[in-house]
Amino acid sequence: MSDRSYLPHNANTYFQQSSHPYVTISYAQSLDGCLTLQQGHMSPVSSQASLVITHELRAAHDAILIGINTVLSDDPSLTVRLVKGENPQPVILDSQLRFPPNAKLASHPSGVWLATTQHISNHPHTILTMPADEAGQVDLHALLDELGRRRIQSLMVEGGTRVISSFLRQRLVNRVVVTIAPVFAGGYHAVQNLNIIDWKHLPRLHNTQICKAGDDYMLWGDIQ
Ligand SMILES: NC(=O)c1ccc[n+]([C@@H]2O[C@H](COP(=O)([O-])OP(=O)(O)OC[C@H]3O[C@@H](n4cnc5c(N)ncnc54)[C@H](OP(=O)(O)O)[C@@H]3O)[C@@H](O)[C@H]2O)c1
Repeated sequence: MSDRSYLPHNANTYFQQSSHPYVTISYAQSLDGCLTLQQGHMSPVSSQASLVITHELRAAHDAILIGINTVLSDDPSLTVRLVKGENPQPVILDSQLRFPPNAKLASHPSGVWLATTQHISNHPHTILTMPADEAGQVDLHALLDELGRRRIQSLMVEGGTRVISSFLRQRLVNRVVVTIAPVFAGGYHAVQNLNIIDWKHLPRLHNTQICKAGDDYMLWGDIQ
C-alpha cells in the first residue's frame, strides 16, 4: 500500500489537541472473527505478509499495549523485527501484577510498563498505579491520561479480546486495523460484550480501506 494510510499520520495533531495518545487497535482474525482457536492458546492467524504490516504499525507507534492474559499465553516480545524502525514502549494491563519474571518482555530493551491497581515499591519493572474501574481492572481513561503525561502520542492496542472489547466499549479508539485471514476457526472471538443494544450506537468504522497482504486482507478505518 503506497500511501500507508493505515499508519497513524494524524497522531501528533490529535495528541496536541487532546493530550491523549491516538489509539489504534490492531489484531488478526479468522473469517468468522476469531483471534485464536481457544482462549489462552496462541493460533498463527496472520500470513508473513500481514505480519510485516503489523511490524510497520508497531514501529509507527510510541507504545504498544496488551492484556496480561496475552502475556501469559503467547509470551510475545512486541519488538519490531520484520521492518526497520524503533520498538514501541510495551505497556501491560495487569491489575493484580501477575506478570511473570521469566516473560520475554521482562528483558525488553526499553523495559516494560505494568499498568496495575496495586500499590507496590521495589518492583523490577516500571509500575503505573491506576485507579480501578467498576470491574476492579485498570481504569483506561486514567491510563490514557498518564500515558499522555509521559509524552506517549500514539498507542497500538494488540489484544486480546478482553482488552479490545474494553477499549471499544469505552469508545477510546481512533483507528482499527484488522488482518482477516481466509480461514474459519470457530474459536475465541475478537470482540465480546459491548453491552450496546441500539444498532445506531455500535462502534462503526468510517473512511474504510482494504488491501491484500499475501492471502490475507487488511481492513482499516477511523472510529472517532
Ligand atoms: N490474533 C491476535 O491478533 C491476538 C492478539 C492478542 C491476543 N490474542 C489471543 O487472545 C487471547 C487472550 O485474550 P483474553 O481476552 O483472554 O485476555 P487479554 O485481553 O489478553 O487480557 C485481559 C486481562 O487484562 C487485564 N486487564 C486489566 N485491566 C483491563 C481492562 N481495563 N480491560 C480489559 N482487561 C484488563 C485483566 O486481567 P487482571 O484482572 O488480572 O488485570 C484481563 O483479564 C490469547 O489466546 C491470545 O493468543 C490473539
